[in-house]
Amino acid sequence: MRRILVTGGAGFIGSNFVHHLVANTDAYVTVLDKLTYASSEASLAGLPEDRVRLVVGDIADAAVVEPLVAESDAVVHYAAESHNDNSLSDPAPFVQTNIVGTFVLLEAVRKHDVRFHHVSTDEVYGDLPLLDEIGSDPKRFTEDTPYQPSSPYSATKAGSDHLVRAWVRSFGVRATISNCSNNYGPWQHVEKFIPRQITEVIEGRRPRVYGDGLNVRDWIHTDDHSSAVWTILEKGRIGQTYLIGADGEKSNVDVVRAILRHFGKPEDDIEWVTDRAGHDRRYAIESGKLRSELGWEPKYQDFDKGLAATISWYQENEAWWSPLKHETEAKYAAKGQ
Ligand code: NAD
Ligand code: DAU
Repeated sequence: MRRILVTGGAGFIGSNFVHHLVANTDAYVTVLDKLTYASSEASLAGLPEDRVRLVVGDIADAAVVEPLVAESDAVVHYAAESHNDNSLSDPAPFVQTNIVGTFVLLEAVRKHDVRFHHVSTDEVYGDLPLLDEIGSDPKRFTEDTPYQPSSPYSATKAGSDHLVRAWVRSFGVRATISNCSNNYGPWQHVEKFIPRQITEVIEGRRPRVYGDGLNVRDWIHTDDHSSAVWTILEKGRIGQTYLIGADGEKSNVDVVRAILRHFGKPEDDIEWVTDRAGHDRRYAIESGKLRSELGWEPKYQDFDKGLAATISWYQENEAWWSPLKHETEAKYAAKGQ
């Protein structure tokens, strides 16, 4: 697999994956990205030009997709509209990119018999009760958990997963799927929870927490997501789904307190804001299949250390995020968030 097409490779997780490929493999990478508001060409700066090429285009445009797929050994599909809050304001681009875009890619890999890896989310499984609501049974998502998406975003990702499964079964497409938990790390857009709170504090405001702040997310460093996807691409069984997680469950309020502690601020210096509609309560991943079958292990086991490195990255890269911040906060302010 020397020629790899990475869709959405100018976004947060896709660009981190491209860096991972350049550092750890001898692959030649073509990034196909529409360069939406969520992308950043800067995230690909400094990569060797003879290894990485950026093509600006839409995954839903078959005329762009077909020739790129035809010349590739594998496609790793990250491109998506990815933010739940945006999907509540305007679901249309989510249906178009996440469902129609995935369909166009599947038709191209079917035609040219190219290996396909579909990057998806644990949100397709809906949510779990909080641990103290269920006592001592720490139930987590597994590959067998029924689909029950809550938001327009997660419903479109669930739809795209089902398309991939159908193309494997009906047409013999050589595909795998991964469903990963919440990522953190460099180059994440300031609309997302951790970068939003870090940059709020850097700009002298209080972090803004939805609802009661007890919602739990299962955090994984984006480098660990990259190594897991590469492992699945190399060793995963065709037609299989693998859950990716690093045992990083934390409540939102605990994450915000950790950020405040890091900056030497009082832990209760929090702005409580309007809750997200349909807000999922808890996500938690059981990643035993990926670990035992393919031998994958996460490297970032210490969340506080990973968070500190991420905070330093945002402190050192203010020139990147600061132009995005004003417009992002204006959108949130209009919703009381
Ligand atoms: P992101 O929003 O940061 O990046 C998405 C990228 O896709 C952007 O560069 C954007 O320009 C590109 N894109 C959007 N529409 C496109 C189109 N029609 N054609 C071509 N490119 C297009 O998203 P992210 O957080 O990096 O997520 C990447 C993938 O990983 C998504 O599929 C998401 O569902 C999945 N995922 C994300 C997380 C997370 O915590 N962020 C966790 C699990 C899975
Ligand atoms: O679980 C994987 C998913 O993680 C991915 O599929 C999505 O693409 C990704 O965006 C992320 O979804 P979440 O909705 O969990 O992430 P977000 O960063 O938007 O919010 C994380 C939690 O923090 C969630 O419970 C909502 C809450 N939140 C978010 C923001 C932006 C706040 O309390 N305050 C905020 O300002």
